[in-house]
Amino acid sequence: MSVDLNSLRQEFASNGITRAELNDNPFIQFESWMDEATQAGLTLPNAMSLATSDDNEIGIRTVLLKSFNEKGFVFFTNYNSKKSKQINDNPKAALLFPWLDLERQVKISGKVEKITTLESIKYFATRPKDSQLGAWASNQSSQLSSRQMLLSQFESMKEKFSKGEVPLPDFWGGYRVVPHTIEFWQGRENRLHDRFAYKKQSGNWVIERLAP
Ligand SMILES: Cc1cc2nc3c(=O)[nH]c(=O)nc-3n(C[C@H](O)[C@H](O)[C@H](O)COP(=O)(O)O)c2cc1C
Repeated sequence: MSVDLNSLRQEFASNGITRAELNDNPFIQFESWMDEATQAGLTLPNAMSLATSDDNEIGIRTVLLKSFNEKGFVFFTNYNSKKSKQINDNPKAALLFPWLDLERQVKISGKVEKITTLESIKYFATRPKDSQLGAWASNQSSQLSSRQMLLSQFESMKEKFSKGEVPLPDFWGGYRVVPHTIEFWQGRENRLHDRFAYKKQSGNWVIERLAP
């Protein structure tokens, strides 16, 4: 089988971005693009691709950005999952926000660290009870013999935590991607797109325009 997708070719038409418009602080710049993505009504504007690797392979999957500040970008997951094993082996990651309806993407790379247990406890407490039970029920990334197995795990967790609050599982929590590079990409006509990369050099953010 062979599928040719060349006819999907599309022109980008935005007015672009200039160096003068960019905030010197990449986190403030990211905040303003995230606001615009949210206001534009994009589906899950906080969904991002997370790439990790170990000696053997590269892994990529979607996770949700749950918070960010000048320390970095935080997501939550199972600490025994495939991604967590890769992060353990190689604590570096890349993030990608594909805001295609705005003809934009943001690419982030940096090192990964676990957030504190207290921070994870605080976030876990904000999740609906069924999501908390879901975290307990799933041994993420391991093989499952059937969906029935998963459902019965969920039911037994429901039973186990029927009274009171559901505690944070010790195998679950957040990671922070502490960036050294954050790139903003805006599509423009004739494939002459605008790209600006913020790079951390000696503690300061330096901005470079990159060829598209
Ligand atoms: C829209 C969307 C959001 C997701 N958000 C998360 C998330 O925040 N955390 C998470 O662990 N998995 C999330 N997933 C599932 C992951 O993509 C992935 O299947 C899972 O984390 C296992 O990945 P791994 O085996 O590479 O560790 C999400 C998937 C989608 C499609």
